[in-house]
Amino acid sequence: MQILIINGPNLNLLGRREPGIYGTRSFDSYLPELQEAFPDIQLEYFQSNHEGELLDKLHEVGFTYHGIVLNAGAFTHTSLALADAIAAIATPVVEVHLSNVAAREEFRQHSYISRVCVGTITGFKLDSYRLALHYFEGLRPKRV
Ligand code: DQA
Repeated sequence: MQILIINGPNLNLLGRREPGIYGTRSFDSYLPELQEAFPDIQLEYFQSNHEGELLDKLHEVGFTYHGIVLNAGAFTHTSLALADAIAAIATPVVEVHLSNVAAREEFRQHSYISRVCVGTITGFKLDSYRLALHYFEGLRPKRV
């Protein structure tokens, strides 16, 4: 099972960026641990600060991969283009957020992408990604 994790703008600064909100750990240090926890999932990772690159990546993998875990960062709250791209592809997308966006500023409480994602996991810091992978793991045909 091939799953792509996509992180959007400013998430390359995870660990250093507002650690009180987003935690003190970088995504790069977390990724090997995540891969180890899901040996049957072939994980790939992509990060970009550019909206167009995120769209291109969704188009590139969106008809072949089994799933996408997407933290679109602030584009969550602004990007109709991202919502259209998710609606356009066949691969299911799980929306994740590190912080509990529902408990933050009002402008973070609307997501353009939620309605085209299979579900949203928000507020569990880096564990949000692990919980999203559990969803995809549950879709995998079980070995007897
Ligand atoms: C975020 C929440 C967004 O509102 C914010 O713009 C981010 C990170 C999160 O993971 O909590 O960049 O997506």
